[in-house]
Amino acid sequence: MYQERKVIVLTGANTGLGFEALKQLLQHSTSYHLILAVRNIPETEKAIATLTIPSHHNIEISKLDLSSFTSVKSFAQGLLTRDPILPLNILILNAATVKSTLSKTEDNLETTFQTNHLSYFLLIDLLLDRIKWTSEQQKTDSFISRIILVNSSLHKPGIGHNKVGPKLELENLDGSKSYDGMLFYKNSKLAQMLFCYQLNKLLEEEKARISIFAIEPGFIPQTELVRESPLYVKLLMKYFLPLASFTRTPEQGGAVIVYAATSPDLENKSALYINKLCQIDKSSDDSYNEDLQKLWWNISCDLTGLEEKKLS
Ligand SMILES: NC(=O)c1ccc[n+]([C@@H]2O[C@H](COP(=O)([O-])OP(=O)(O)OC[C@H]3O[C@@H](n4cnc5c(N)ncnc54)[C@H](OP(=O)(O)O)[C@@H]3O)[C@@H](O)[C@H]2O)c1
Repeated sequence: MYQERKVIVLTGANTGLGFEALKQLLQHSTSYHLILAVRNIPETEKAIATLTIPSHHNIEISKLDLSSFTSVKSFAQGLLTRDPILPLNILILNAATVKSTLSKTEDNLETTFQTNHLSYFLLIDLLLDRIKWTSEQQKTDSFISRIILVNSSLHKPGIGHNKVGPKLELENLDGSKSYDGMLFYKNSKLAQMLFCYQLNKLLEEEKARISIFAIEPGFIPQTELVRESPLYVKLLMKYFLPLASFTRTPEQGGAVIVYAATSPDLENKSALYINKLCQIDKSSDDSYNEDLQKLWWNISCDLTGLEEKKLS
């Protein structure tokens, strides 16, 4: 069954850009087996019920709470054990959060950093061998497995309403010294960019056939990302900012994700940052800093319990 379909794991598929990406993927003539990895299964079922699913695609919904390493491990375990030949062609790591007040996860880590970066670090590690295996199995296919990290231009300095950060500081990674939710969001996205380039380097060294892309979808005020913000911010985002010429629509944002995940333009390329116009762009200067890449790789290993994967 899977041999005829590309298997796609899509996180945060129930709403926002994930849902838009899902709608657009369903328009493709290529057959997909879509695994929607979400934390709220009933809400996802409701969202899916509004769609027409062409018969050449399959959809399944699977529980994944990115604020819990236990959930990440059990999701990965579920994928790997239920079928030893389940291919993993495309991972779209889209779900993310931004908090307005400091909160900690059950793993005693700041929620945004764990949800947006550390859990993906762990998830990719757990699934990496299967992703590599998939590309090896499908050597005749010019499409090699892809990992898509939905990032943000906010990982760059001087962007966003207060122009502060990102500022990755190990001493304040738990927010105990000071907490600015947007700064932690920016930091999580910078950590993800550093991870993208470091992981690609390691994959290249072992000649693994995997492409990894980070995308920035543009500023899209209509999604649920500001759900925890004060009412006036939510109203501004919902009714006024969409009228501004610099904002993008959820459809446009979803299209960038789908482009990175499926476009033949990107075959045999990797470690690219793709902007809201589907163009290859430069990420922040810091993100190319190899010392920072290694440092935050090793910190991420420590925080996710993957000490054996640390780089010397
Ligand atoms: N909107 C923008 O302007 C913008 C700009 C740049 C980048 N982005 C990026 O685009 C991606 C999608 O964001 P969006 O704007 O579509 O926001 P959204 O509407 O809030 O969607 C976020 C998704 O992430 C899921 N999620 C949040 N916390 C989770 C957790 N602990 N475990 C599993 N899933 C979780 C949400 O699930 P629930 O519905 O269950 O909470 C939802 O499906 C994010 O990576 C975001 O950083 C957005």
